Amino acid sequence: MRLIIRDDEEQASGFVADYIVDRIRTFAPTPEHPFILGLPTGSSPLNVYARLVQAYRQKRVSFAHVITFNMDEYVGLARDHPESYHTFMWTNFFSHVDIHPKNVHLLNGNAPDLEAECAQYEQTIRDCGGIDLFLAGIGEDGHIAFNEPGSSLVSRTRVKTLAYDTIRVNSRFFDGNIDAVPRCALTVGVQTVLDAREVLAIVLGPRKALALQKCIEEGVNHMWTLSSLQLHPYPMVVCDEDATLELRVKTVKYFKSIEQVARTQGFEQSLPTRLRQRPDPCGKPMLPKATAAINTSITGIATPLIIPSPTKPSTSFVLVNGAPDTPEASPTTATKLDQSTTESMDEAVTTTSTRMIADSESDLDLVPDRMGNRIALPAGADIASDGKLGIVPVYRRRLTPTPEQQQQSHFGRVGA
Ligand code: GLP
Repeated sequence: MRLIIRDDEEQASGFVADYIVDRIRTFAPTPEHPFILGLPTGSSPLNVYARLVQAYRQKRVSFAHVITFNMDEYVGLARDHPESYHTFMWTNFFSHVDIHPKNVHLLNGNAPDLEAECAQYEQTIRDCGGIDLFLAGIGEDGHIAFNEPGSSLVSRTRVKTLAYDTIRVNSRFFDGNIDAVPRCALTVGVQTVLDAREVLAIVLGPRKALALQKCIEEGVNHMWTLSSLQLHPYPMVVCDEDATLELRVKTVKYFKSIEQVARTQGFEQSLPTRLRQRPDPCGKPMLPKATAAINTSITGIATPLIIPSPTKPSTSFVLVNGAPDTPEASPTTATKLDQSTTESMDEAVTTTSTRMIADSESDLDLVPDRMGNRIALPAGADIASDGKLGIVPVYRRRLTPTPEQQQQSHFGRVGA
């Protein structure tokens, strides 16, 4: 999970808009290979839409070959109602850019058969090859799209009864009249979002602070459906300082430091090249996008990542696999990179839980870490039995200084 923290809404929105522009430009969409963008409604993305419109006017981006799928729509609200999500999207975004109306997809909350409408939506997403980037906002209860607390984490597009809290919060768009807020909506499912090749959530303001805390610091939980992003290979949450109010200081510092180190090392972009660019224009047969996404979600979590090189410890930085509080995150588990590993670098940098730290122990002799063997291997993973370097599961290959060196280095730090 990448957590990008910016001082305020302006800066957070600026980051998100620039990121989307950059993704579309790098992908270089064509009529044959359009960029598929998932979009949310709500007040959180408003500033992002304004900035995307500005970028279009400045000719920094075109939406001519972009296909969009919106997250949700109220049931029973007239399409041209001022608060329908159709109206919202055309008013705030689509009308101001060069997107072709046929490339815009919004659920129809007035369809005669709502179930069929939802099934067709999923099918259309599949037919387009899956979503490249899903932008999301969240509700105060941590819902993503209209996946209210208790939603199945493998849910797909469906009719959803809205939680009372959501009806109450959204009544601000209906002149404060709770009775005017629809009770049901059509929404993409949690799994529909997770199927996207990349998910980017924007979380703004103190009202979202508890939800952000639940989703970042606690486990995957159907009561806070944004937390499902922990299961995605390439999730990114962009928030403002106000939204971090419930996070631990340690958490905030941790994510800020990662971003800083990544920036200084030139690894700001976490998405692998093969997902950032459109399929090979030379006509090489490509996997259908949906298949690629499935493979990615598997490899992103469980594949071998880095070729460790304990005999060449002269690199300026190391990559450490694992979240801050997991055993893998200890500097003693560092996996060193040398020149020969540059090809696998892209893969390594894109690992969801990879972080970089300064290499403070490069002059130590590293030995395999016996604790690594306690971590279960995914089915089918190979273990290098000959001790030779090669691509092996990184947690089996964790390297650590000898116990004597660990002691020295530990006391050295305490003393300092
Ligand atoms: C609604 C939408 C969500 C959106 C949420 C947050 O519930 N269905 O997709 O994320 O509102 O809205 P806001 O950004 O206005 O807080």
